[in-house]
Amino acid sequence: MNKVIVNTDVKQGTINKNIYGHFAEHLGRGIYEGIWVGEESSIPNTNGVRNDVLEALKAIDIPVLRWPGGCFADEYHWKDGIGPRENRKRMVNTHWGGVTENNHFGTHEFMMLCEMLGAEPYICGNVGSGTVQEMSEWMEYLTFDGESPMANWRAENGRDEPWKVKYFGVGNENWGCGGNMSPEFYANFYKLYQTYVRNYGDNKLYKIAGGAHDDDYNWTEVLMREAGPHMDGLSLHYYTIPGKNWNNKGSATDFAEGEWDTTMQRAFYIDELITKHATVMDKYDPDKRVGMIIDEWGTWFDVEPGTNPGFLYQQNTIRDALVAGVSLNIFNNHSDRVQMANIAQTVNVLQAMILTDQEKMILTPTYHVFEMYKVHQNAERLALDVEAETVQQNGQAFPGISVSASKAQDGTINISLCNLEKASKTKLSLDVRGEQFSHVSGRVLTADKMNEHNTFEQPENIKPIDFKSFKNEENKLDVELPPMSVVVLSLN
Ligand code: AHR
Repeated sequence: MNKVIVNTDVKQGTINKNIYGHFAEHLGRGIYEGIWVGEESSIPNTNGVRNDVLEALKAIDIPVLRWPGGCFADEYHWKDGIGPRENRKRMVNTHWGGVTENNHFGTHEFMMLCEMLGAEPYICGNVGSGTVQEMSEWMEYLTFDGESPMANWRAENGRDEPWKVKYFGVGNENWGCGGNMSPEFYANFYKLYQTYVRNYGDNKLYKIAGGAHDDDYNWTEVLMREAGPHMDGLSLHYYTIPGKNWNNKGSATDFAEGEWDTTMQRAFYIDELITKHATVMDKYDPDKRVGMIIDEWGTWFDVEPGTNPGFLYQQNTIRDALVAGVSLNIFNNHSDRVQMANIAQTVNVLQAMILTDQEKMILTPTYHVFEMYKVHQNAERLALDVEAETVQQNGQAFPGISVSASKAQDGTINISLCNLEKASKTKLSLDVRGEQFSHVSGRVLTADKMNEHNTFEQPENIKPIDFKSFKNEENKLDVELPPMSVVVLSLN
């Protein structure tokens, strides 16, 4: 039997709401069609942003949105994306499908989207093919309040008031698509570029250095050693890929039982990655001033048959919901170091919240996990003691359950639980110590088949429903989790 003790008296700091962040790149149908349809579109929109997607995204309280890439960021020249749209330069999106990018969604449109969503913008600058001056002027354009070439240009383009920008990334994946650099080379570039990304007036930037992927601990070591004092955050990228390699990642919907297990095992692996990268960071930053920013994570499968391989369009099943639930629990449980995470990506790309087909839109199982877990945003993390049974099958071993718990500002204790077993329900004894509660409610996201998903024909195959499979006796809950389930219990 799995055992969980929640110590409500032992608070472990705030879970930064930015752990529930998102990422929208100029990639496939992520921005164009997924978010931006333009003012003239027959799809109902507000200033060019489609209304259905906007409303759905508002409901999950997106705290921060990363843009414009990804690999696209290191080829993006922001000056191409301002001014009258009909005059904007058309370019080739060389990294993603070689399609024409008309630059209709640029700086003004992105900042407007963030305002509409109530999300903090997180802008990723171009180190790979951009200049120091270009990056410096972007910040002046965005945030300088007064007379200057860039601020005047912003006003000419219809925006007098400067915006506030907090999060700024100095490049992306600079070990790969962002310039194929060594960590030593990038550390120097980082120091150079960030010097000229200025704080104007009271706009105070949180500067994020491009970090490692997977288990490249040396990258983290070199960056912390050489550039640690110049950064506020250091990124980490990790994708859950069940297949053998990048050319054979596996299908999002058509997969064997063994792939379920591989996926769960690989989703859990991010716990080890965070622990080990954090250990390196601790060596140079014992006070944990520098945040670990997991600004790309999620599942990555083969694209849906018949779709453009460069568009990274994939379906999303209950398996994705489990990966989301497990990953978010892990991030919550590392909230002393993990200050932000941005799932890849918001609409129509990789592990998306939303899929669209022209005027139609569906919410994915992953969306529902973000909606259920939003209670953890800025809540106080509670100490846990977890004894989880190990699942061992198909050559994989991983804990059968995943848990995190927090106390919201209104005093509610929220506990998120995942059962990773695809075939069997699991029992859990939940001992809540320190505080008495008299009322328990719960919601569950589950499915009958491991590849169950929502479609444009059946958009509500998977959605959260009330959960009642628990007994409450003197602050101890006996819970029965269905197979393949994500549950959030709320205790008052
Ligand atoms: O999210 C898709 C791509 O994955 C991003 O552009 C890149 O940073 C990463 O390799």
